[in-house]
Amino acid sequence: MNQVPLNPFIPHQPVKPDEFVGRSAEIFDLEQCLSHAKNGTPRHFLLTGDRGIGKTSLMDYLRSVGRSVSSDQKVNFDFLVADIILDKYTTTLEFIRKIERAISRELEKTEPARAFLSKAWEFLNRVEAVGVSVRSSPTEVRSDTMLRVELAHSLINISNRVCQKSDYRSDVISKQYDGILIIVDEADQAPKDLALGAFLKTFLETLHRERCTSVMFGLTGLPTAVDRLLEGHRSSLRLFHQVRLGCLRKIEVIDIIDQKVLDIRNQGVSKFDITDAAKEVIWMYSDGHPHFVQQLGYCAFEAALNSVRDSAVNYDREFPMDFCVQAEHVHQGALHREGAIQIMGDIYFEAVFRRLSKSNEKLLILRQLVESDGFELPRSEIKCLPETNDVDNELLDLCDSGLIIEDRLTDCYKIRYASFAYWLSTNTPGIVP
Ligand SMILES: Nc1ncnc2c1ncn2[C@@H]1O[C@H](COP(=O)(O)OP(=O)(O)OP(=O)(O)O)[C@@H](O)[C@H]1O
Ligand SMILES: [Mg+2]
Repeated sequence: MNQVPLNPFIPHQPVKPDEFVGRSAEIFDLEQCLSHAKNGTPRHFLLTGDRGIGKTSLMDYLRSVGRSVSSDQKVNFDFLVADIILDKYTTTLEFIRKIERAISRELEKTEPARAFLSKAWEFLNRVEAVGVSVRSSPTEVRSDTMLRVELAHSLINISNRVCQKSDYRSDVISKQYDGILIIVDEADQAPKDLALGAFLKTFLETLHRERCTSVMFGLTGLPTAVDRLLEGHRSSLRLFHQVRLGCLRKIEVIDIIDQKVLDIRNQGVSKFDITDAAKEVIWMYSDGHPHFVQQLGYCAFEAALNSVRDSAVNYDREFPMDFCVQAEHVHQGALHREGAIQIMGDIYFEAVFRRLSKSNEKLLILRQLVESDGFELPRSEIKCLPETNDVDNELLDLCDSGLIIEDRLTDCYKIRYASFAYWLSTNTPGIVP
């Protein structure tokens, strides 16, 4: 009896390192950062990209590299990796506590390690002992700057004991790490009061002054993470090597899909396939955005399963070995009422479109682009309402919103994601009154 295969696409969570596809240039870049840290010249990084573009998946991948052998550079890495996620309520004290918890979780496996760590983090206990909780502002007890400096000294102390380059031999754990990698995800969420830029600047400069080269920071977040850093301190940005994550290339999208084909064959459906035409349609709707690829693949797979169920075959007893996802399944999965385009629209387009749709000028521009070949028009062909006096401003707003992009070389404007054009056409027929 052949089981109904499980949908292999993963739109709901980051991919595991062994399912991660592509990004070789960015991986090379980030592995260089690890190599720098391993050699005593840490290069902190800031990874930015749009929502769903694969930041967390890439960090999960890097974390696995940080504890093993690099794929590209054939270097062995063994970092102590601490994971922090910021939210818009994170206070200075809570940020430090998150770092403390993440590092302690990794280290406190033996009694000597626990004793050492409790001493190393004594300042935190002192601050909390006078009644300041991690959620409240610590300013009355101790300035944020002092807390950052104390954090730096705690980490210097810990890295001296557990990392390779120090003169101390570790007496608290049985191994020596290459360094401590602190990954801070969702850095764009950092609240103003945290002053992330100032926090990291004081902190990293203290490490530098004390010649501590074993601690490395990796920040990830939306492109607005750059603003969060700049708000905190104008020069904080230059402390980071910036890596920008864009869409996947076509060959990488095909790789993701081919990996899913193998997955289903391994589930026992030996002749399973996704046709080349279906791959083309996934590419066409997704523009290489990894979440879109997974969502479209997921819905296409479900549509193909439904068509088997609707056919005469009773697949509960015997699932057809030549089960295949075709282009029509991708279209159905994308365009039906609860399909991929609607799901992507709810997540990515709805809120920003609702905000912009108060302006008739913007709606008119969007409609012209949606109705043009390739969703693209030269600036000179974009018409505006008679009462509009500044089309360039409207175009600028639309570019800032991420819905359209400008090609400066050709002086053309284009809908950024084809899926937005389909979503807009389905949801707002005749979008301008
Ligand atoms: N390299 C990749 N290979 C295959 N799938 C990927 C890859 N990168 C991301 N994905 C898929 O894209 C989706 C979004 O990935 P992820 O959660 O890592 O993005 P993100 O940028 O962290 O998103 P957010 O901004 O919402 O936090 C997931 O469904 C994941 O399966
Ligand atoms: Mg993420």
